Amino acid sequence: MAFVIDGKEAAASVISAVTEASVSLEGKTGIKPGLAVVIVGEDPASHAYVNSKGKMAKQCGFNSIQHTLPEETTQEELQALVDTLNADPAVHGILVQLPLPKHFDSDAIIQSILPEKDVDGLNIANAGKIATGDLDTGLISCTPAGSMLLVKRVHGEDLSGLNAVVIGRSNLFGKPMGLLLLAANATVTMAHSRTKDLASVCRNADILVAAVGRAEMVKRDWVKPDATVIDVGINRVPAPEKGEGKTKLVGDVAFAEASEVAASITPVPGGVGPMTIAMLMANTVIAAHRACSLPVPKF
Ligand SMILES: NC(=O)c1ccc[n+]([C@@H]2O[C@H](COP(=O)([O-])OP(=O)(O)OC[C@H]3O[C@@H](n4cnc5c(N)ncnc54)[C@H](OP(=O)(O)O)[C@@H]3O)[C@@H](O)[C@H]2O)c1
Repeated sequence: MAFVIDGKEAAASVISAVTEASVSLEGKTGIKPGLAVVIVGEDPASHAYVNSKGKMAKQCGFNSIQHTLPEETTQEELQALVDTLNADPAVHGILVQLPLPKHFDSDAIIQSILPEKDVDGLNIANAGKIATGDLDTGLISCTPAGSMLLVKRVHGEDLSGLNAVVIGRSNLFGKPMGLLLLAANATVTMAHSRTKDLASVCRNADILVAAVGRAEMVKRDWVKPDATVIDVGINRVPAPEKGEGKTKLVGDVAFAEASEVAASITPVPGGVGPMTIAMLMANTVIAAHRACSLPVPKF
């Protein structure tokens, strides 16, 4: 049976290091890291995410600021708020919760966040730094950064000689994850919906990362014996065994059967999920240190 990688425990240790860095920054400069989270509309899942980000920011000793805007907010109004936050020296990180309601040009909003405050790592300046192998001066998007931290807990810093396969090529996750694995010297294959014979591509992976959004797609015979499996997918499926109308969360990997073959595997929930929010806090404290021209903590 595979070793189950505990994302909650790894995230807690990042949060504890972030809190220490935040307290030390405030002690040295009197400045608290400031994280502004902007949410537009009523989507309950987005509100739940934003609430937990706010709670975690407070736990880390940050100045946590939340802007809740109504659904009918215009592009110009949201842009004006982002401009104000960009100009506010007490705000070190800005996160606009996605998805925005349909009438917004989300990309224009995201790209208008100053790269040094883009704690989600979605600005093209930050994406470009990862693409050119500069992992030290930008902000790395949170889910790939958190997944990479889990990979490194198993394999160490240097992935030389290991084959990594990432299923999914989104800008949010797949592309930056592939680039981070490459920067750590893995030999990387990026797979997607047009990949031929995906199962045999995956069977070649010492490190298999699934970020597709299809419940339990990766089966036992896709997994190379003794591989490390990182499951990024979050899929809500019916769970009649829990009662009528009940649901549960599963990943993109068929966990029970893949666990019989892999050496290590992340569960869903409790794997990559908790890392995303921890890395958001890490990015905020890094941004605050840079704003104070102090050496940045490493996580
Ligand atoms: N844990 C977290 O905090 C976290 C954060 C972000 C995302 N996620 C989860 O990760 C999953 C992926 O997110 P995303 O934003 O990257 O999704 P996305 O933008 O929808 O991208 C999905 C990717 O999967 C590929 N794909 C779709 N069907 C496929 C198939 N049958 N075979 C192979 N590849 C296939 C797509 O290929 P094409 O490009 O060819 O269409 C695309 O590249 C979702 O479940 C999401 O909820 C979790």
